Amino acid sequence: MGPSRTGAVLAALGVLSVCAVSGSGPEAERETGGDAGWAEPWDGAVFRPPSALGAVGVARKPGTPRLGREEAVDLPVLLWWSPGLFPHFPGDSERIDCARGACLASRDRGMWGDPRTRALLFYGTDFRASEAPLPRMGHQSWALLHEESPLNNFLLSHGPGIRLFNLTATFSRHSDYPLPLQWLPGTVYLRSAAPPLQERAEWRRRGYAPLLYLQSHCDVPADRDRYVRELMRYIRVDSYGKCLQNRELPTPRLQDTATATTEDPELLAFLSRYKFHLALENAICNDYMTEKLWRPMHLGAVPVYRGSPSVRDWMPNNHSIILIDDFESPQKLAEFIDFLDKNDEEYMKYLAYKEPGGITNQFLLDSLKHREWGVNDPLLPNYLNGFECFVCDHELARLEAEKAHAASPGDIPLPEPHIAQLSHLDCPMPTPGFGSVEEIPENDRGDLYHGDVGNDGLLEAE
Ligand SMILES: *[C@@H]1O[C@H](CO)[C@@H](O)[C@H](O)[C@H]1NC(C)=O
Ligand SMILES: *[C@@H]1O[C@H](CO)[C@@H](O)[C@H](O)[C@H]1NC(C)=O
Repeated sequence: MGPSRTGAVLAALGVLSVCAVSGSGPEAERETGGDAGWAEPWDGAVFRPPSALGAVGVARKPGTPRLGREEAVDLPVLLWWSPGLFPHFPGDSERIDCARGACLASRDRGMWGDPRTRALLFYGTDFRASEAPLPRMGHQSWALLHEESPLNNFLLSHGPGIRLFNLTATFSRHSDYPLPLQWLPGTVYLRSAAPPLQERAEWRRRGYAPLLYLQSHCDVPADRDRYVRELMRYIRVDSYGKCLQNRELPTPRLQDTATATTEDPELLAFLSRYKFHLALENAICNDYMTEKLWRPMHLGAVPVYRGSPSVRDWMPNNHSIILIDDFESPQKLAEFIDFLDKNDEEYMKYLAYKEPGGITNQFLLDSLKHREWGVNDPLLPNYLNGFECFVCDHELARLEAEKAHAASPGDIPLPEPHIAQLSHLDCPMPTPGFGSVEEIPENDRGDLYHGDVGNDGLLEAE
């Protein structure tokens, strides 16, 4: 545990330096029973944003003996071409034991030409076609981990970009190792109690708006500020981030954008004063959902959401969030929020999923139950180690299939190539956040963002 945790920290530092160089730039209650009757290890303690680097679990089954160097000689090698994410410590290589067998994970680029090297692992945010290891070796799979939206690397949401890869781990349910719920620790997180309505009514009397907006990354593919600015003409929004700001968070620590995406208890207490949170993702992609969606639900606020077009599939029930795109105009949306704001009974229906048995979406329950990685759960592997084992198992299966083919080429064909699809990073072309392209004035640059807030990725959350 000790060493792997340190490794995670070093890995994080490594990632940061890689990014600085590659110029990815500024973008760069214990529960018993419950709906499905399983316990979750998450204990209600402070939940940090889920960096794959945050809580390094071990993919190796506990008790599996580590073998010495000489015993690792014949193992297929998985080479992390993005070395900063290498989830092992110390050293540049480590044997990993997965479901089908063992592999050697390495970040030694000297292994590239080695015939044992079966897979190269890339981190999407860092990937630059011009730095790809060429010529491409026929026996090597390219595996892509990219949990982020196209904000960080738009090339990958184009067919020719994504089809460079054989295996993927992305936010999409269609990817080979899907991470759509990467920001959701579990059902306990969703169910935590909402503050009493009287408390919020009191904040409203003291001058708080019904709606909260907290965003400091303004110039993003989803063009969200253009919509929010229009909505603000029809209903009051308290905006605390750098985008469309009209109020200040109470303390300098909370004002620090580094705090803004965390589960800082003081920040959460403050945000929970609001009945509605504007929750607009930085880009519109199927299954791309972040803390912007889950955090308000945790706090018992109603997200007013625009992001994954398929978000309904993941909601605890069919009446838990307000979808911006269900409304023909910002004015109509404002009218509806105002109606709910004045009608407690209708408002409370949006929080019914917090009641016992209130999470009725079996797809969500099953997805949470069957995923093998955890979100800030030291008892489960994180998805970085999980993906590594997924690739290892895939390569072991491919080796077996190749051997079987070699033994009887007449009867057993070579395994089919496995190639990533556009659906693995399913992000339609961006459109204006409000209005049409024709209506946007020339030289419009949105709300130009000034400052040094981080990107939305593993490296720094936003
Ligand atoms: C929501 O689900 C309930 C129960 O499954 C159903 O009766 C209702 O029609 C659904 N409402 C919508 C808006 O889909
Ligand atoms: C990997 O993908 C490439 C296309 O990008 C394809 O040519 C190659 O056959 C695939 N390799 C395997 C092992 O599936």
